[in-house]
Amino acid sequence: MNSSFQNLIDLDDRPREWWDKIISLGSAIKDNPKEYAKKCDGKILATLFYEPSTRTQMSFQTAMLRLGGTLIGFDNPETSSVAKGENLKDTTKIVSSYADIMVMRNPLEGSAKAASLTADCPIINAGDGGHLHPTQTLTDLLTLSREKGRLTGLTVGLCGDLKNGRTVHSLCKALSRYPDNKFVFISTDELAMPNYVKEILDSRNCPYEEIPSLDDAIGNLDVLYMTRVQQERFSSMEEYERLKNVYCLDNDKLAKAKADLIVLHPLPRLDEIPVNTDHDPRTKFFEQAKYGMYVRMALILTMIEESENPVPQQMLKGHIHDELTCTNPKCITHKEEYLPKSFIETEKEYICEFCDERIAK
Ligand code: NCD
Repeated sequence: MNSSFQNLIDLDDRPREWWDKIISLGSAIKDNPKEYAKKCDGKILATLFYEPSTRTQMSFQTAMLRLGGTLIGFDNPETSSVAKGENLKDTTKIVSSYADIMVMRNPLEGSAKAASLTADCPIINAGDGGHLHPTQTLTDLLTLSREKGRLTGLTVGLCGDLKNGRTVHSLCKALSRYPDNKFVFISTDELAMPNYVKEILDSRNCPYEEIPSLDDAIGNLDVLYMTRVQQERFSSMEEYERLKNVYCLDNDKLAKAKADLIVLHPLPRLDEIPVNTDHDPRTKFFEQAKYGMYVRMALILTMIEESENPVPQQMLKGHIHDELTCTNPKCITHKEEYLPKSFIETEKEYICEFCDERIAK
């Protein structure tokens, strides 16, 4: 299946040079925003948010307004025809025919890819369930390059809900493409990093270790990426209550960290970073949220320019297997049954092309 547009569903769809281009453009825009104020004059950004959002949605909207463009969209699908039962394909097809570029967040995994199969403008994935969040990762990369001065040779601790946190999945996949980075996964067994991410790191010879205690891990880190335990992705509230406060970055732990550590968090934060640590200059998550606006300006500008010279894209790379059903209950293919059952086949397994679920042969 082909799309005429170059989308951003997963950062891995684009070469690393493209990421570097977006990061350096984001940095240039931050240093000289006035130069870009009219670059998207007359263009329209659509934001379709089927899930709550503050930073991602508003930073995209502000980014477009600061480029001189305008906005359409919804952040409550109940006020659109989605409430009447309209499927994802029809909603996104129509809205994408009104806009020049479309940003979508949806709780189902693989939803952005599904929308991109039939959309009439480029699509940006702003989070598809617990799966991926590529624009947060571009934000994180710009933050690291400005605040640490490099994207290589970093020991990065990721702490909290590594199972359900889409930001950490995308970030690990991306940082493992740069040389000499190491990861320390700090989580309980229940919240551990999914195997598919670890398999990707193994295939790139990127080292990682798993440590349950933040206290034990913090002293060796250059970057600590804290995450919220994702209540909305739990099926049992009892389990959420048991796990929600397992990790807390307090001043005692920060006292054990390197002087040049930086602490990031995609936000919103709950109790995992108490506000009484905010005075510590190593906490950089408010700066990180602002870098998100500049990187999204770079992204909108670049992708609108690309869409003026469309290069047909092969969206599905696997084969149709009508006999298979994706085993991930949160996969978009269960809700939107018209979608092709497309899987990439390896020696040991079938990989769902929408949500990356591995199905053993
Ligand atoms: C994150 C998200 O939505 O995945 N937030 C964000 O985009 N800035 C993290 C979270 O919700 O915990």
